[in-house]
Amino acid sequence: MANLLAKKTLEMIQEEGAEHGEHTLRRVLGPVNLMTLGIGAIIGAGIFVLTGAAAARYAGPAIVLSFVLAGTACTFAGLCYAEFASLIPIAGSAYTYAYATLGELFAWIIGWDLILEYAFGAATVASGWSGYVLSFLQDFGIRIPPQITSARGELLVKYNGNWEHLSRIQATLASRHIDPGSLPQTGAYFDLVAFMAIIAITVILVIGIKESANLNSAIVIIKVSIVLVFIAVVGFYAIGHPSLFWANWHPFIPPNLGTFGAFGWSGIARGAGVIFFAYIGFDAVSTAAQEAKNPKRDMPIGILGSLIICTVLYILVSALLTGVVSYTMLNVSDPVAIGIDAVPGVRWGSFLVKVGAIFGLGTVMLVMLLGQSRVFYSMSRDGLLPKWAGAIHPRFRTPWISTSLVGCFVAAFAALIPIGILGELVSIGTLLAFVIVCAGVWVLRIKRPDLPRPFKTPLVPLVPILGIIVSLGLMASLPGSTWLRLIIWLIVGMVLYFTYGRKHSRVQLAAAEGPLKGGDVISRG
Ligand code: ALA
Repeated sequence: MANLLAKKTLEMIQEEGAEHGEHTLRRVLGPVNLMTLGIGAIIGAGIFVLTGAAAARYAGPAIVLSFVLAGTACTFAGLCYAEFASLIPIAGSAYTYAYATLGELFAWIIGWDLILEYAFGAATVASGWSGYVLSFLQDFGIRIPPQITSARGELLVKYNGNWEHLSRIQATLASRHIDPGSLPQTGAYFDLVAFMAIIAITVILVIGIKESANLNSAIVIIKVSIVLVFIAVVGFYAIGHPSLFWANWHPFIPPNLGTFGAFGWSGIARGAGVIFFAYIGFDAVSTAAQEAKNPKRDMPIGILGSLIICTVLYILVSALLTGVVSYTMLNVSDPVAIGIDAVPGVRWGSFLVKVGAIFGLGTVMLVMLLGQSRVFYSMSRDGLLPKWAGAIHPRFRTPWISTSLVGCFVAAFAALIPIGILGELVSIGTLLAFVIVCAGVWVLRIKRPDLPRPFKTPLVPLVPILGIIVSLGLMASLPGSTWLRLIIWLIVGMVLYFTYGRKHSRVQLAAAEGPLKGGDVISRG
């Protein structure tokens, strides 16, 4: 059993991080790039789509408190990520942190689990993205056959003259008492739009980290501007019409309807579980650690800076949204559009939100794919995945084989499989990684208090313990079927570990070679 919990030493990991040359990742990212990578991954479907339904169905105006709660959980985890990312600036992120603190088995579990967050996350977002692109192009009279805009098995309906993914506008139809069966329908075969988006992003990621980061930064400026326009327009309206906002905010916490999660305090918790998706992504900054110029200083800035900026934006957007429109009207696919359109004289809300979502979701996919290829790169270097997965392109200096393979897999997955249900699997996978990272910070403080930590998580062990408790609490708020999928996924991972990973692990091979010396590749768990 001891072998399963064998650990990589910090010294060895730090040595890996200090390598340079044409077969290593290129260190070009500064603090601004890292922060925009975080914002690029965070702002997406969560705020543009999920906020409305979460307010209408679970929390009412108190969705603001759900954002505070989920933001607090992420802050605890973010502080722990920041300590690790500056201490162990390695592309493997949570996977490597687990290897250094809890041992190989946990590292594998987290590496495997991160596929849920990054690869499945990118696929889920790609499939939502194609719905927005279809809708946006149709607004300009550009028609693509609806059959190639969704995975097989998904239904599209013709609404207001446009083909729309039924899953995307179901809530809107329900709120307008329209029976989807009464609308023209067609099935889909292949989501060419999602497929092409993932392939295009993959090509950019292969070409270079600087190119990818610059494109991401440009798009982040656009999407943050759109969020700021919403805040400014609705905010000024609120100043002129305070009574409307007070009326909509009252009662701030609608009374519970008798079941857990249907408003009241439990509704706030359920709402936090749903909109947690909106925060996912700040941790992906840590996978760029080996591409940062000064990771010791800049990793905490990138992780915590992006998290703080997005938390403030989310709280403002959700407060203004539930103030300008009654929460009962928000169970729609475009709540932010409904909110801005409620301001007299504004009629471009829907256009604005579609542009925001198209750009917003684009960078989410980019950073998720970036994160996935970097985790595979690290796992390959440890022998837990085949060697080619860690190959670096001598000119582009990117892990081009894993980036390409991840891209092809995610593109095919998004194009062929209806994956609307996978959003919660992405959340539970991410939360599991948070639990392990928080536990890891605590363990390492006990085992290696001597290490010089460029950034220290405050109030250890309180912050890691709170991070673990709140993350487990959010996991508990997710449905049993999501837990079942997570367990099945982890069992498949275990089979792969025992049939491949364990036999090829560099740590295990080094252990088999002989007794260990201090500072050697591994230490026994
Ligand atoms: N946070 C990302 C989003 O909301 C995953 O789309």
